[in-house]
Amino acid sequence: MHRNLTCSRLGARVARTIAFFSLVLFVALLPAFSTARAQVINTDTTVAGNAQNGKKLFAANGCYECHGYQGQGAAQTGAARIGPPQLSWEGFQSYVRKPAVQMPPYTSKAVPDKDLADIYAYLKSIPMPAKGKDIPLLNK
Ligand code: HEC
Repeated sequence: MHRNLTCSRLGARVARTIAFFSLVLFVALLPAFSTARAQVINTDTTVAGNAQNGKKLFAANGCYECHGYQGQGAAQTGAARIGPPQLSWEGFQSYVRKPAVQMPPYTSKAVPDKDLADIYAYLKSIPMPAKGKDIPLLNK
């Protein structure tokens, strides 16, 4: 009788310990679940492309002729700065297919979506120009 009592008390203690550690584990893993969710949400607006290949395609498809090799844009051609692009992937894609003003349209036969995604990745990899105060030479 006495033995059984200690046994069940021990059982309750083990159960409580397990419950406690499950709770700790759950709380510890909570951020992991939320970042996984955030990543899923992010992939809706971004696209996986190969920036290195995109650099080649940006030149091969003549984008550079109006936008410059770094997508910096050019006053002479009126082409906007697109490196880095301000448009979302969807906006970028639909603009290239149906440009608004002077830019010639590129159909998906001319530049398939996969290639365009690489071009987008290349442009995304280009940093915005530094501000004057962030350029060491100008702070001498
Ligand atoms: C013949 C010149 C020319 C070529 C070639 C060209 N563009 Fe453009 N692009 C322009 C001009 C000019 C604009 C400014 C808006 C307009 O006139 O359509 C523009 C605008 C854009 C915009 C919209 C920018 C914004 O933020 O609103 C994107 C995106 C773009 N070009 C991507 C490309 C890509 C990618 C290529 C190559 C596949 C390319 N362009 C080739 C001339 C060109």
